[in-house]
Amino acid sequence: MGHTSFDNFARLARSDLSNTTRAGRLSKQAATVADIVEDIAAKLTLESSDCLLEIGCGPGDLLLALSSRIASATGNDHPDVLANLEKRVTNGRIDTIAGNFMECAPNGTFSKILIYSVIQYLKDQAEVVAFIDKALGLLKPDGILLIGDIPNRDRKRRFMESETGRQFHKAWLLDSGDEADPFDGLPVDTDLVAIDDAFTMSLLLSLRQKGYESYAVPQPLELPFSRTREDIVIRGLRG
Ligand SMILES: C[S@@+](CC[C@H](N)C(=O)[O-])C[C@H]1O[C@@H](n2cnc3c(N)ncnc32)[C@H](O)[C@@H]1O
Repeated sequence: MGHTSFDNFARLARSDLSNTTRAGRLSKQAATVADIVEDIAAKLTLESSDCLLEIGCGPGDLLLALSSRIASATGNDHPDVLANLEKRVTNGRIDTIAGNFMECAPNGTFSKILIYSVIQYLKDQAEVVAFIDKALGLLKPDGILLIGDIPNRDRKRRFMESETGRQFHKAWLLDSGDEADPFDGLPVDTDLVAIDDAFTMSLLLSLRQKGYESYAVPQPLELPFSRTREDIVIRGLRG
């Protein structure tokens, strides 16, 4: 299992960067977090009785906002990343599970599970499948797992080949100003999974063959990477 990206997020956690940047977003995208939270709450059909686990929760931009709507919230990530989340918790409502998810043994099960902007940092397609299988093992019957913000190379290529995509990219470069890439200067992760249409469809097919209703769904256009990323919603096995 490659750990370079996981360790890089821990390096960002120990830096003096903002929590927005530590979570992998540009400063200019901070204002979109509220839209992301609403989209997640709708896709997970979050209810006040829900127990939510967020795997790869980062410094908690999403989990902190979601935790006030539900019965219990648990975040998993590197211990140095969780240290930043813990500093932000004011009402004691978030439990944490420290460590690489593939090496953790979480207790109990959850009615809703969120994995957002995480699977692209795993090593290969086999690790993504194992990661999702492990998460599904923690899902209550009839629960929902949302795997969100999945970059898809084929969607990106199609978008960049369109006139809209070219104009969007030009405006994006102008608007990005001189904000540095937070990963500049950190070890380069040479072992990263390739996600494309074929892999996304193969994931959906294998999940359905295992008995899970699962769907690839778009993101609202106001979300920062909506043109090139998508989400997968998986419904737990019937109780
Ligand atoms: C781009 S950040 C997203 C954080 C948060 N989900 C959000 O959207 O605000 C990706 C996070 O996934 C975590 N992560 C990556 N691989 C992981 C693994 N194997 N186990 C647990 N967390 C992992 C990283 O440490 C990082 O904090």
